[in-house]
Amino acid sequence: MSVRIRAFDLADTEQVVSLWRSAGLTRPWNDPYRDIERKLAVQPELFRVAIDGDDALVGTVMGGYDGHRGWLYYLATAQTHRGRGIGTALVVDVERMLLGMGCPKVQLMVRPDNAGARGFYAAQGYEPFDTWATGKRLIGD
Ligand SMILES: CC(C)(COP(=O)(O)OP(=O)(O)OC[C@H]1O[C@@H](n2cnc3c(N)ncnc32)[C@H](O)[C@@H]1OP(=O)(O)O)[C@@H](O)C(=O)NCCC(=O)NCCS
Repeated sequence: MSVRIRAFDLADTEQVVSLWRSAGLTRPWNDPYRDIERKLAVQPELFRVAIDGDDALVGTVMGGYDGHRGWLYYLATAQTHRGRGIGTALVVDVERMLLGMGCPKVQLMVRPDNAGARGFYAAQGYEPFDTWATGKRLIGD
């Protein structure tokens, strides 16, 4: 695989937002530019991207460790590059970084209609658990 994984760089911004849009990860209530800006202020090293060749951005994952659990967000592989192990490589990479920080467990939220992501994470050894997810917006985008 000629794809390498590295930390996000500000110059990647437009390619990242375009990938998230085409992968169906953006929502009207989340401004992706503000999400990137916020991530650059907190554990920016856990925002990983997959690069094909010199500069084609073909994958992303955004990790975070809150001192109790590690969390994954914004996992995406470009449609042209799916099924080649890039999603797996991104998850393995960010898991390795979380483990290096002493993180005992990594978890994530998947929207109920996203069967593809459920299949992908099951293949990575992630086990579903029952919880009632809830949240409260503190800053409106
Ligand atoms: C989920 C996603 C990142 C997977 O990326 P990928 O680079 O194609 O993943 P990999 O090639 O590493 O796949 C590894 C394994 O996961 C499983 N898998 C991947 N996509 C799958 C799908 N749509 N349905 C079921 N299983 C899947 C397969 O077992 C696959 O192994 P195989 O190719 O040997 O069969 C990609 O489909 C994507 O970007 N989806 C849209 C965005 C999204 O839903 N992100 C998750 C948000 S929670």
